[in-house]
Amino acid sequence: MSYREVELLAKVLFEVVERKVSIDVAFKRVCRGRCAKGFDERERLYRLCRNFVSDYVKLLCYVGSRRVSYRKLARIWLKGSLPELAEPYCRLSIPRWLYERVSPLIGEQEAVSLFEAFRERFWWLRVNTFRGSEEGVIRELESEGVELEVHRELPYMVRVLRSPKPVRLLKAVKEFRAVPQDIASAIAVEHLDVEPGEVVLDMCAAPGVKTSLISMLSGGEARVVAADVSLRRLTAARHLLRKLGIPETSVSLVLADSASLNLRSVDKVLLDAPCSNSGAIGKDPGVKATLTPGKVELYSSTQLKLLSKALQLSDLIVYSVCSILPEEGEEVVTEALSTFDDFRVVPHRLTKLCSRGYPGYIISEGVCRMFPHIHSSDGFFIARLVRSPG
Ligand SMILES: C[S@@+](CC[C@H](N)C(=O)[O-])C[C@H]1O[C@@H](n2cnc3c(N)ncnc32)[C@H](O)[C@@H]1O
Repeated sequence: MSYREVELLAKVLFEVVERKVSIDVAFKRVCRGRCAKGFDERERLYRLCRNFVSDYVKLLCYVGSRRVSYRKLARIWLKGSLPELAEPYCRLSIPRWLYERVSPLIGEQEAVSLFEAFRERFWWLRVNTFRGSEEGVIRELESEGVELEVHRELPYMVRVLRSPKPVRLLKAVKEFRAVPQDIASAIAVEHLDVEPGEVVLDMCAAPGVKTSLISMLSGGEARVVAADVSLRRLTAARHLLRKLGIPETSVSLVLADSASLNLRSVDKVLLDAPCSNSGAIGKDPGVKATLTPGKVELYSSTQLKLLSKALQLSDLIVYSVCSILPEEGEEVVTEALSTFDDFRVVPHRLTKLCSRGYPGYIISEGVCRMFPHIHSSDGFFIARLVRSPG
């Protein structure tokens, strides 16, 4: 254990817990490209920080009610002598309330598999057909030494099984012929069945990953109105869309609170709502350190507001969240449908690739849940809502 490592871990954990930033942002802020000589050392330190942040709840269980500084936590962790802990939530290093919320829904054994799967990060790439062909980009990735698996239903999606370098540094990724995008996120967009000529409203669009897939699936022939409340994130979306080669005339970026959008009706709406990110713990273990039931409650009420607006704007809405909590999935949709009773949940042909919704909700059979331990994806919820005729 070196003094340097203790300092790095303590500072990264401070950023994650106190400043509530993701592990990637925390590491970048603390390291600033200076914490390591060379690329391999930087990757080693990043992984060290990631694993340390992931073990935060476990460490808190271990120290109990003692007040312990971040440096001390780093020293304890680096010594590597944490005993086996009795409580499953401690062993899994998941907040107790989250474990207790999810395990009755799927059973204890399944919950253990789910939370263990979050220790791994699954990598998926989407071939950007505006910049290359499926075969060409897959060949290019393979020739760079990437071991991959092409998705059996969506041939433009590939799972990276092994890569000789971090995915972001692969040539095809740096040159925007391939885009990191989770399979669940692609399946959400597929639920729109977008057609050339349609007008699609993407209500929470930034940083534009799903917007760009909507455009790609229509061959650049759909009109996408991409709204977001954050100027910073919308600016990032503008850059991303340009780099991906999305035809400029096909996407209109709109800075707005989508809950009060003043729009004439559109053909389809994607509502990829702001959420707890509890489905993205594999990407950002920092979520485990900062998520609280209070935050989930706030997200649920924003989601319901946005979904109620969406149901006034179109006859077909795809609602998605990167969350494993029913408060942000089944409950939001059930509540919205109790007001907008002319809408039904209608499964899509790809819903068959998903798990059903959590049991006990009237919509459970028609919605899509995806999980890392089953689908090698983020934890995701997708519902397709269609206005019934008559
Ligand atoms: C899950 S992210 C969207 C990710 C995006 N769909 C993609 O695939 O790249 C949620 C987004 O909702 C935006 N947001 C939150 N509240 C909003 C609101 N009231 N109106 C519009 N956008 C909102 C956030 O700024 C954030 O960019």
